[in-house]
Parts: sequence; C-alpha cells; structure tokens
Amino acid sequence: MIQGKRIRLRAPTRTDIPQFVAWLNDSEVIAGLMVSLPMSLEDEEAWFTGMLNRPLAEHPLVIEVQRGEEWTAVGNCGFNMIDWRARAAEVGIFIGEKSLWNQGYGSEAMTLLLKHGFNTLNLNRIALDVYETNPRAIRAYEKVGFVHEGRKRQAMYKDGSYIDILIMSVLRSEWKEDQE
Ligand SMILES: CC(C)(COP(=O)(O)OP(=O)(O)OC[C@H]1O[C@@H](n2cnc3c(N)ncnc32)[C@H](O)[C@@H]1OP(=O)(O)O)[C@@H](O)C(=O)NCCC(=O)NCCS
Repeated sequence: MIQGKRIRLRAPTRTDIPQFVAWLNDSEVIAGLMVSLPMSLEDEEAWFTGMLNRPLAEHPLVIEVQRGEEWTAVGNCGFNMIDWRARAAEVGIFIGEKSLWNQGYGSEAMTLLLKHGFNTLNLNRIALDVYETNPRAIRAYEKVGFVHEGRKRQAMYKDGSYIDILIMSVLRSEWKEDQE
C-alpha cells in the first residue's frame, strides 16, 4: 500500500475488473486515453491475466479515496515500459469517478507515483504522453513538476481528427518531493 494524504494506491484484484470495465466504457473518461473501442468483461479479464505475467513494478495501482471508514476505488495508475538500464519509465493515470475530477486527486496520485518511482524503484526519468486536447491532465502534470519536452505531431486519431501528443517528463535531479 502506498499511502498519501487523501488517497492510497493498492494492488488491483480480480474483483476490481467490473469497475474497470465500467470506467473504460465511459466516453468522457477514455477521451484522454488510448482506449477507443468498447470493452467487455472478458476483454478486461484477459488483460488482467496478461498483466499478472508482467514485472511487479509494472502492475497497475488502484487509486482509492477515503469515505468515512471505507476506502473506495476511484481510478487506476502505474508504470509501464520500465527500462532498468536507463532507469526510465512511463506513467499513466485515469480517475474513473468523474465527480472527483478537478479536486486534486489526480495530481496527488501522480505525486505519489513520482515518489514511488524515484525513492522506491530508483528511477531517473519518468515520462508520459498526453493529448494536446486534454488541458486538465496537462495542468495536473505541470503542477507536480512535469516539464514539456516535445510534441508528436498528428500522432493520434480521435473522434475524426488527428491530434498531437505532448511528451512530458520529470528527471530525478529536478524533482522536488514536496512539489504541488
Ligand atoms: C487527468 C486526470 C487524471 C487529472 O486528475 P484530476 O484529479 O481531475 O486533476 P487535478 O484536480 O489534480 O488537477 C486538474 C487541474 O487542471 C485544471 N483544469 C481543469 N480543466 C481545465 C481546462 N479546461 N483548462 C485548463 N486547466 C484545467 C484544474 O483547475 C486543476 O488545476 P488547479 O488545481 O491549478 O486549479 C483526471 O481528470 C482523469 O482521469 N481524466 C480522464 C482520463 C485522462 O484523461 N487521463 C490522463 C491521460 S494522459
């Protein structure tokens, strides 16, 4: 369990799968994600089984918020493409509970991921791709220290249009643990 101020990150279980399917079939949630096609329970179960064969450090983490005594799953985040020689990785995140957007949970989760990546996994570079059409995500990443480093022109096709993908990253040397 990775504990933050208002949220915590935990390992996913098979019981999370129906919730993941609901989130990943929500057009507003997936507007900023690489997911484009309708996803079934069976698709997600197959993804989950495949995910278990990936390195532990690349398993997704469920974002939970505390409501009274209960912790409730609200989204998902994690590392992928970890390159142990370059000590570099990519991160991804979504908060599936749309009512919780714009309340700082995404930036808090990303802050926790950066801390985990630099202080536990001993990474040197953490990067992400974000669509130019996703200002909320861009702002959340800027707040926690991500720096703009490039643009892949017309690299994604969504809703009938080509869009640019922005590349953002944080290096260990420029990371401030208490930034936000
Ligand atoms: C992207 C996401 C993780 C961000 O999490 P969040 O909890 O909503 O974000 P935060 O509240 O931490 O920060 C959002 C910031 O963007 C700002 N913002 C929101 N809409 C904006 C807009 N249209 N233009 C500019 N800034 C905007 C908010 O005001 C806030 O900044 P502030 O704290 O300075 O006021 C979440 O919205 C999400 O999961 N979206 C759907 C999936 C997705 O797009 N994932 C990212 C893929 S790269």
